[in-house]
Amino acid sequence: MRIISKERDEIILLALHSEEIGKGDYLLIEDVDSRRGLLVQVYDEEYHNTQSLLEDMIRDEVVNAASKCNSYDPLEIGDIARIVRDARLLRCKIRAGVEDDRLGHAVSWLPSRVSSRIRRVDILELNSFMHGGGREGMITTTDNPKVHPIKIGYGKDGESITIYAEDLDGKLNLITGKKGSGKSHLAKSIVKSLAEYGAYIFILDLNNEYLGLAWRHDGGKSSIGDKVLFLEPGRGLRFTLDYLGKGPIANMLKYALDIPAASLREFFRIWDALASRNRLSISSLIESVASWRSNELVKDALASRLHMMLASGLFTDGNSLRVEDIIRERSNGAIVIIGMGKATPVVRRMTVELLLSKLVELLEQGKIPPIFLFAEEAHLYLRDTYWEDIVTRMRHFGIFTTFITNQPDAISDSIYRQLDNIFLFNFTNENDLEKIARASMVDAESVKSIVRTLPVKHCMVIGSVVNNLPLVIMTAQPEVLMLGETKRFFINNKRIST
Ligand SMILES: Nc1ncnc2c1ncn2[C@@H]1O[C@H](COP(=O)(O)OP(=O)(O)OP(=O)(O)O)[C@@H](O)[C@H]1O
Ligand SMILES: [Mg+2]
Repeated sequence: MRIISKERDEIILLALHSEEIGKGDYLLIEDVDSRRGLLVQVYDEEYHNTQSLLEDMIRDEVVNAASKCNSYDPLEIGDIARIVRDARLLRCKIRAGVEDDRLGHAVSWLPSRVSSRIRRVDILELNSFMHGGGREGMITTTDNPKVHPIKIGYGKDGESITIYAEDLDGKLNLITGKKGSGKSHLAKSIVKSLAEYGAYIFILDLNNEYLGLAWRHDGGKSSIGDKVLFLEPGRGLRFTLDYLGKGPIANMLKYALDIPAASLREFFRIWDALASRNRLSISSLIESVASWRSNELVKDALASRLHMMLASGLFTDGNSLRVEDIIRERSNGAIVIIGMGKATPVVRRMTVELLLSKLVELLEQGKIPPIFLFAEEAHLYLRDTYWEDIVTRMRHFGIFTTFITNQPDAISDSIYRQLDNIFLFNFTNENDLEKIARASMVDAESVKSIVRTLPVKHCMVIGSVVNNLPLVIMTAQPEVLMLGETKRFFINNKRIST
């Protein structure tokens, strides 16, 4: 390989067809004289085209077509000509400088075109660059020990790729890609590992597919089976008004049920009256509203909201679900799956408002440890202002969110700016590609070129988990049941017997 040119953060290399280098691969350009290097990533490849080469190829074609006998080539010049025609130009982005086998920031210098050595960097070596340790990628620094590896997939040559749970802790992540590309699958592998390390994870599950985490393929319980709790609104997920308290209920009424401000004030007046007599329940709220002396419009607004609350099944007068109890009972970590696959859109919004408000309240009071939140297609149930909240306030209190979506434009630019990690699966739609290329933390050309041609189950990992060295991986095979296949008519439907 040879350096052809350098332009801003881009280096163009000449490579022969036989050199097995492809998109996403890392190369190290070592300048022998100055004993420093540049770590570059191939993001595109093209033929080496010159006018004379083209004319040469045409001439060859014409001669081949015209001659009936084998051409006489005692000096084997034809072979060399073929190699020249197959030469490739590799477009590479400079990702980092290298000095004394460590990553550095010095990237604005020109390596020698004559004497530089260029070689492929394998995953092991890249790992050691990323995590700053020896060739095995083990961490040696004591100020930031990383001791919780998560195997998320494989590199091109089948080597395992590991990220560290510490790099997800306190972070904001996004998993995105087109439908069926393997997003939820990756999310499940990460959830599984986090749970094994004793983390508390809440999942907003729209397809009721995460329950499979509790089981292995052979039908037995998985290693984290005992930590999995599946709750559905109305089934398992039921709260008393008393436990939730005014804050979460007010948020739910305001944001999920659009209650007018005047009605909300009246609601809490009735609430206080009932609470002072220890009679707080949905049914007594409904009774009180009916007999309350107030404006008819306000009464109507209240009655309709109360009936929606009653119908949602989220409230009970009996035993309430208590988040702090779930966590206390599972001292080694828990996966709480909120199955919203069967819930109506309004019940989804109510559930999420109640749950997130309650979680923030408990975190504020220091009653629960920080939690990881995995939100599938969050734009379907999270109000717009919540996004900001999640990335600023909630993160501060200890809710570390991973958004999973196939609609990158559903996420606002202000969220993109604060993302720490992006797991990017294939997109072919131009608009989606454009959006994600503009918003992600690496240059738009790399994202567009690499992501457009990613096969299913492959993703580009960007951000702090890979120490800002974007990496293309194939996601790992699961040990647990992944569920989540889309139901099909012709595959799932057994014919009704005749
Ligand atoms: N690495 C993998 N190994 C084996 N199977 C996989 C892998 N990645 C994904 N799959 C399978 O491919 C299918 C689609 O994956 P998945 O459900 O994760 O896609 P998705 O991107 O979440 O799709 P959707 O947008 O519909 O939610 C699933 O059946 C999943 O089990
Ligand atoms: Mg999915």
